[in-house]
Amino acid sequence: MKRLIFLWMAGMLILTACQKSAPKSSGNIAGRVDSVLTLMTLEEKIGQLTLFTSDIDVTGPTIRENYREDIKAGRVGAIFNAFGADYTRKLQELAVKETRLHIPLIFGYDVIHGHRTIFPIPLGEAASWDIAAMEQSARVAGDEASAQGLHWTFAPMCDIARDPRWGRMAEGAGEDTYLGSQIAIARVKGFQGNGIGDLHSVMACVKHFAAYGAVQAGRDYHTTDMSDRMLREVYLPPYKAAIDAGAATVMTSFNELDGVPATGNKYLMTDILRKEWNFKGFVVTDYTSIMEMIPHGIAEDTASAAALALEAGVDMDMQAGFYNSSLQRLVKEGKLKEGLVNEAVRHILTKKFELGLFDDPYRYCNPEREKATIMKPEYLTASRDVARKSMVLLKNDQHVLPLSKTTRSIAVIGPLADAKKEMIGSWSAAGEGAKAVSILEGIKTAVTPSTKIVFAKGCNINDDTTKGFAQALQAAKQADIVVMALGEAALMTGEAASRASLNLPGVQQQLLEAIYKTGKPIVVVLLNGRPLTINWMTQNKVAVLEAWFPGTEAGHAVADVLFGDYNPSGKLPVTFPRSVGQIPIFYNMKNTGRPMDPNNKYSSKYLDESNAPLFPFGYGLSYTTFEYGDVQLNKQEITQQEGITITCKVKNTGKREGEEVVQLYVHDLVGSVTRPVKELKGFKKVMLQPGESKEISFTLTQSDLSFYRRDMSFGTEPGKYDVFVGGNSDDLKKASFTLK
Ligand code: GLC
Repeated sequence: MKRLIFLWMAGMLILTACQKSAPKSSGNIAGRVDSVLTLMTLEEKIGQLTLFTSDIDVTGPTIRENYREDIKAGRVGAIFNAFGADYTRKLQELAVKETRLHIPLIFGYDVIHGHRTIFPIPLGEAASWDIAAMEQSARVAGDEASAQGLHWTFAPMCDIARDPRWGRMAEGAGEDTYLGSQIAIARVKGFQGNGIGDLHSVMACVKHFAAYGAVQAGRDYHTTDMSDRMLREVYLPPYKAAIDAGAATVMTSFNELDGVPATGNKYLMTDILRKEWNFKGFVVTDYTSIMEMIPHGIAEDTASAAALALEAGVDMDMQAGFYNSSLQRLVKEGKLKEGLVNEAVRHILTKKFELGLFDDPYRYCNPEREKATIMKPEYLTASRDVARKSMVLLKNDQHVLPLSKTTRSIAVIGPLADAKKEMIGSWSAAGEGAKAVSILEGIKTAVTPSTKIVFAKGCNINDDTTKGFAQALQAAKQADIVVMALGEAALMTGEAASRASLNLPGVQQQLLEAIYKTGKPIVVVLLNGRPLTINWMTQNKVAVLEAWFPGTEAGHAVADVLFGDYNPSGKLPVTFPRSVGQIPIFYNMKNTGRPMDPNNKYSSKYLDESNAPLFPFGYGLSYTTFEYGDVQLNKQEITQQEGITITCKVKNTGKREGEEVVQLYVHDLVGSVTRPVKELKGFKKVMLQPGESKEISFTLTQSDLSFYRRDMSFGTEPGKYDVFVGGNSDDLKKASFTLK
């Protein structure tokens, strides 16, 4: 017994020393980590690999009783869904004061598009094409989250999505690899700010690794299966961009890939992530995804699922508890090397040291800072600004927009007109819907006192009740103009929210057509988390503003655009299909051997639908107009060591200032493998005054022109290239060059 006490005392001396003494340089952190590791029992090591959820009950976050015991016993290394300076301090005290080695907890949470001040859903933010705005959004989120005791967000979601039936398209950056990569970088920089350990930052978590957006039939959790070339060319780059930007952690995806669930997929978690990309952080599973390897059919029981995950390179088990229940026996029976456990513990303890938690476990638990930070006015202003920038003007051919603030009477109709919690969208986690500004409130605030506003809900979002139509028609008849807020419920998008139809839900289309018959000018404001088949709106005289789910300041941001205080500049980050039957439909498809020819029956097309989208990727209108000059190249030929500069003059040909997203696409006409008909390779958002022109230049490097060739090597090939510049992926000016 005396020997045990001596050893414990010695251990505590080492631990106290390493907690106090060494500075935080990474070299010393490795030494400090190993000092702690040598003191840990196998059970304590495995405890660090376990992440459990706090619960949210009526009084706010709470922890299950058995988890309290697990924390005190050192069987939990991190908790998620717990936030608040006081509450996280209480849980941290359990770990630091009551466990044998006083190892602090990490607190994680889904801070996806804002924490308490909610910004537009990520797909909406992506529509802004404003990289600085998206970085700022994540910066604000990181500050609010860290002010509430959080160290870690489960974001950015970097899944490329080409199938709008999948509800989680709402959480990402859309269909394009280049745009998605730039946005992933911005979000990691925003969340992690001045680095891990900066009190105003949180660790990012690149998810869902990998290719979760390619689920078959757009059905959540479904199978993904693709060539390695498709994986590397389309789906992996945004994850890699986030990791190269310094993302601290990675989350495994629910889907299988090439027959192996990501959570047990060594090709993904070790060969690509660690060996090819040199990722140094830690990998956490998605919610119980270790357990799900049993129904996937790749593990027959808890122990084999746990072993498969650990051997694949997964460090932390979110909520399954399979590491806790199986690893100790597997190691003791010699079926798993303790070295694998040690490696996983090192990855996690390293982040705890980098967060400064060993120096001060309570450094993020500051109630005064929390009070001063949450939803402060400048953060609400930032949210409103990003929301305005996210909106996409899809149609205004009757020039109904912008509206006048002195309009005599405006009818505001629709199930989303006075909605509040819907405005903050899916994955708004700690966001408070009740604090969101409804579209009705935003319009009322914006107009002059003499303007009469009449509201009628008209119908519900997603049922067949039409009894509200009469009142809505009454409201419309007495108004000069009608604003209709239509779309989806927030939770019709996001996780476990796939839809087989992309139509307006319920009887909203019927309501719209009934109001249309009154002959009043109509502006439709769309609130949705995916493209919708709004074909009727394109065939009738209504204006359409795509507002997505705009966040806490929704109503004000919508009003800013409706009344022209802000000229809409958003562009679609996803293709809008004409019908579900076209899916998957995206701009950078292949040409095929029989490209669509309306005069040739035997060409790639439908009998009953066009190949063309309803609205193309990169599309968005403005209250002004822009004209593109010819595309100029600094060279007609380049070698495989040279870049090429592309220039195009863009002119504001309208009567008011406006921002335009100038887009650059490339088409490699012939390769050792077929190449997409065009690929986004650059974009610039520019402000132009009425009548003003600007020369917009892009430089393409060899890397920009590189791809996975026939032998899967990454590089360029000689040949002819077309380059395109324009305001969307369909309406482009072209030039050509040769790569010798
Ligand atoms: C969910 C989601 C993931 C989220 C995690 C924690 O199932 O797939 O995106 O971060 O669980 O809430």
